[in-house]
Amino acid sequence: MNMNGTDKFIRACSLTELKEKGRILFTADSGGEAAILFVKGKIYAVDNVCPHNHTPKMHLGIVSGSDILCPVHMYKFSLITGKHSENQVNPLRTYKVKIEDDDVFIEKPQTTSFNFDF
Ligand code: FES
Repeated sequence: MNMNGTDKFIRACSLTELKEKGRILFTADSGGEAAILFVKGKIYAVDNVCPHNHTPKMHLGIVSGSDILCPVHMYKFSLITGKHSENQVNPLRTYKVKIEDDDVFIEKPQTTSFNFDF
């Protein structure tokens, strides 16, 4: 990794694989997890842990437009901002995505939350 900002990102998967599968659960060496989703030509990356009950199931979420519903209690979050649709719980963490050739990178978290960090 170089010092021009690339080191803020971590490789999550190949673009080919993501397009084929539609979604990938990425697990970092630290054990932290992110759901990477390919939705109508766009790529989103969100924390796999739902902010409602800290359940690591967002990779199984139901995508509706640019929102994702947690499969546990169906709380709806924006894939873009992470905000809950009714602001009842903390936002779902979202991560910037960068594509280089066939590699999908996501931005490392700048802060840590409970047991999650890359
Ligand atoms: S744990 Fe996700 S909505 Fe309750």
